[in-house]
This record gives sequence, structure tokens and C-alpha cells, in this order.
Amino acid sequence: MYRTHTCGELRITNQGTEVCLAGWVQRLRKLGGMTFIDLRDRYGITQLTIEEQAPADLRELADKLGREFVVQAKGKVVERSNKNPKIDTGEIEIAVLELKVLNAAQTPPFTIEDNTDGGEELRATYRYIDLRRNPLKRAIMLRHTMAQEVRSYLSGQHFLEIETPVLIKSTPEGARDFVVPSRMNLGQFYALPQSPQTFKQLLMVAGYDRYFQIVRCFRDEDLRADRQPEFTQIDCEMAFVERDDVLNAFEGLAKHLFKSVLCGYLRHSNHPRYNQPFPRISYADAMRYYGTDKPDIRFEMKICDLTSLAKGHGFPVFDSADYVGGICVKGAAEYTRKQLDELTEWVKRPQIGAKGLVYARLTPDGIKSSVDKFYTQEVLQQWAVRMEAMEGDLILILCGAEKKTQEALGDLRLEMGNRLGLRKKDDFAPLWVYDFPLLEWDDETQRFYAMHHPFTSPKPQDMDKFLSPKKEDLEQVCANAYDFVINGVEIGGGSIRIHDSAIQKRMFEVLGFSEAEADYRFGFIINAFTYGAPPHGGIAFGFDRWCTVFGGSESIRDYIAFPKNNSGRDMMLDAPSHIDAAQMKELGLASASER
Ligand code: AMO
Repeated sequence: MYRTHTCGELRITNQGTEVCLAGWVQRLRKLGGMTFIDLRDRYGITQLTIEEQAPADLRELADKLGREFVVQAKGKVVERSNKNPKIDTGEIEIAVLELKVLNAAQTPPFTIEDNTDGGEELRATYRYIDLRRNPLKRAIMLRHTMAQEVRSYLSGQHFLEIETPVLIKSTPEGARDFVVPSRMNLGQFYALPQSPQTFKQLLMVAGYDRYFQIVRCFRDEDLRADRQPEFTQIDCEMAFVERDDVLNAFEGLAKHLFKSVLCGYLRHSNHPRYNQPFPRISYADAMRYYGTDKPDIRFEMKICDLTSLAKGHGFPVFDSADYVGGICVKGAAEYTRKQLDELTEWVKRPQIGAKGLVYARLTPDGIKSSVDKFYTQEVLQQWAVRMEAMEGDLILILCGAEKKTQEALGDLRLEMGNRLGLRKKDDFAPLWVYDFPLLEWDDETQRFYAMHHPFTSPKPQDMDKFLSPKKEDLEQVCANAYDFVINGVEIGGGSIRIHDSAIQKRMFEVLGFSEAEADYRFGFIINAFTYGAPPHGGIAFGFDRWCTVFGGSESIRDYIAFPKNNSGRDMMLDAPSHIDAAQMKELGLASASER
């Protein structure tokens, strides 16, 4: 037996027991003739002591130990004279009687501490060492707990977990596919699923009316902190449902995770908003009030349309703008000229793209604005009333094309939220956004793209517009689609699906597919809809993202055991890599001259 206990287990009540532990050497210290060893495993750290009077061979062996050696120690649990309240085993130590080195270790390339000295690349190359550190261990354990809770909740709601294939035919979700050459069908390729979208719909046709899967998805797209080329979804689908049935079912899942994982496992305090119905707002309102389709509603500071009050007073910049809007920053009237100049520079950065910033401070001596020349106190007062601004507040105003300005105000709102400390790390604000546009026009390729994916149903009331040949009509069609958002992060997205083959064909037509092309790529699903497809809809949650938000981190890489870097490389394996000529040939990938 390698061990009787783990390194996180022993307490003062075990005093006097003979135990055997195994683990990694975290730290070695010598004090006088005594040797102290911090022995670490997944469960914690236990202090081992080797007395000055210990047998010479034991002391010699202890002298040869180094960091991260794997050792086994037998000894007696004794009370510590110098207790350490910071660790669970801090009241005891093990007086070592026997010590065995199970494996020596090279000095690790970085320290195994919460704040390590290792750079990102080095840690990625030695991911198995990085995973020994507490922050990563906590992340991996959180992910496990999330997965367990998802499975137990959905299974309790009669959802069946069904696996779908990984070698498939391309399912377009807006990103590029990763493809796999087929040796047995030379010149042909499988695609890795961007999501199991079509399979889950086929399962509805098959009658498995509640499906879920915690499933790997693959997308060849540009990477960011919240994106990985392979990531995991909690993928779900239901038959015989309308939008609100889906939202209610998964609000149930979300509330369960808030309760069991966030408040239970992570011990966050239980905020009333985790138990109340989650806010539901339309895409149009999200853009109007927050300038984004994924609002962070931990704080108010809604965008306010000032166009009608700002135009027609002789200020040329506003007079010539399509839209004038502002945000009211509570209690920020004290902002200095220097701070406002700096904010002006901030909004002018290319990422935000505003031309300038107009401000108005509500001081005890009236409203002081950067456009006093053009507006009387009376008009400025009207702005303040519309924005519900009070003395002590600061109004920030941008103008330009409507959507672009709303987006810029949305960015400014988040920035002010950060500066004022309103985006608290231990606060979580979930909401649903619904009624997205169905289609997006792309000027470059002169065609429509599905905003979500081509299986999303138009809203029933927009069906006439969907069937219309006119671009203006199609642009206005609303999708029966919804997103789930926490703290400004898109956690999930889904929709009610098309289940009528004629409508599905029309969708491919709108997206510019010829009938033959649509049939070649999607014939299987169009066909399936002719064999008794029930009305259905669903959603998929980004599992890595949800773990990351609950864990309070910025990067989903922390919540994936073996992630890829920003260039899509696995630094540890050094993948992707070249394959040899023989393998290329076998797969039919060699160029004609090489064949
Ligand atoms: P969608 O494309 O919106 O929908 O994806 C669902 C959720 O998956 C997460 N996500 C990602 N997470 C990490 N890295 C990525 N590259 C990445 N891409 C997406 C996001 C997102 O909200 N089949 C549909 C779902 C449906 O209609 O039911 C789909 O995949 O959190």
C-alpha cells in the first residue's frame, strides 16, 4: 500500500497514529539539525519532520531530496509546537520513521506556487507541472463539479445524454471547419463538428424529446481570451416547445448551478437575483440601453437617447448626427478636466472610434458642459431630466450613426463601470436576450448570412417578410433566437428551429445556395423533416465560459486541462505538426508529382 492517508486529511484527532503518506516535495527547510518537508498531493500539504537524532541513513536521504521529488513517508502523527492555521493539517506533523524516494525529479522550470514565476509559454509547455498549482487545481475541480451538477439536474428533468459523432459532414455555424482526410475514401474529408446542431435536431425527429450532451466542439476561428479552437458545450434540445418553454427549462438549470455550484461549492453569498426570474430583454432594447447584445447588468447606467433634445440648437456636430446619446455617471461630477481629456482620448481610440466626447457636469452652481456656447441652462436641464441625472452626476455624450454610437456608448459604459468599481467580481447578473435579427447582409460577398445558424426559425409573424424576394424585407426578419448572458459574457445561445422542409429550403435559398448545393450539403436534414419532424428548439451553453465566469477569471484556458495557445498550438505536444510523406500519400494528400 503506497499510502494510508492523503496529504490533506490528518488532524489533531489522528495524533499518535502511524501513517504512510505519498506525494511531491513542495518545500524543504533545515532548522538546526531538523529537516522539515512539506509534502503535497491533490488534497493538501502535510509537514514531515526528521529529527536531529534520527538514524543517519534517514537524514542522509533527506539531504538528497529536491523540489518535486516523489516520496513515500511512514511515521507518527504528532502535535505541532508551531501550528499553521493557514492549512487544514496545520495542527499536526509527521515524525518520519521511514522515507523512500519513489522518483527523483529535475528542478521544475517554475515555482509551484499560487503566484508562480513562470511565464505563460513556459507554463503551457510544462502544463502537467502547472496543473499542480492550486489556482489550476481549483479550476479543474470547479469544472468537474459543474459537469456533475449539470448531469444530475438535466437527468432529473428527463433529459437523455446521447453522444453524437465527431467525424461528420460540415455543419455551418459561422466558423471554418477543421477537416480530416479519409484514407478509405481518397480525396474526401470528414469535418469535425462546430456543434452537434443537426444531430440533435435529428434526435428530435427520432422522438428523443429531451436531449443533452456535454460535448466537444471544434471551430477554426481567430482566438481570443474567451475562445478556443476546441471547446465544450452543454448542448440541449427539446421537442414540442415554444421559446418560453426552453427559457424556463434552462433558467431552471442555471438557477440550480447558481445554487449548487456558485453558492454551495464556491460559497458565494446567495444574491436575491439568483432566485428571482431572470430579466428577459429584446435584442433591440439591449442595443438601445446597453449598446451590446450581451449587456453587463450588474450596474445601471443605461444609454439614453438625446437626439430630439440635442439637435436644432446650432451645434453643428449634433445637428448633422443621426443619433445623439449619453450615459449618466452617478457621483462623477467631480471629474477633473484632465480626467475628462483622458476619457476623450479613450473614446477616440480606433477600438471605440468616436470623434469626440461631450460632457455635462451637474454642479451646485448649475450644469457645466463642454458645449455651453450652444445650449442654455434650460435645455441642459431637459437633458438631465431625461437622463434622471442629479446634482453631483456627470453626463457623457457621443453622437454619430445610431448603431455605431450605441456600441461606443456601450463600451464607454463598461469602462466607467470598471473605473467606478461597479463590475464587482463576486456579483453575478444573468439575463436572457431574445428576438435577434435572423439575417445579416455582407456587402463584400453581396449575400445574407444567418446571424445564428441556418436552422433557426424566423418569428411566425415575420414569415411573410421571410418569403418576400426584397432585401429590405429580409433585413427586417426577426429570429426566434435567444442568448443567455452573465456579466456581459455570452454564455449560451439557441433558438426555435425550422421543422418544415419547405421553410428550410427557403432558408438555404435566402443564404444563396442553389437547390443542388443545398441538397448536396443538407439533403439529409431537409429530407428528415419530411418524415414527421416535431416542432423543436434548444440551446447550447459554452461550458468552459460558464466555469470561467463562476471561477472569476478572464481566460477560459485556465478552466481547460490542456488548452491551446492564441495561435491554436498545443505547446506541450508541439501540435499541429508535419506528417511524413508516406502518411500524406496514404491519405491522398501528396501533390500529383509525389504520387
Ligand atoms: P453558438 O455558436 O452560439 O450556438 O455556441 C453556443 C455557446 O458556445 C460558446 N462558444 C465558445 N466557447 C469557447 N470557444 C469558442 N470558440 C466558442 N464558440 C462558442 C459560447 C456560445 O454562446 N448549435 C448552436 C446552439 C443552438 O442553437 O442550440 C451553437 O453552437 O458560450
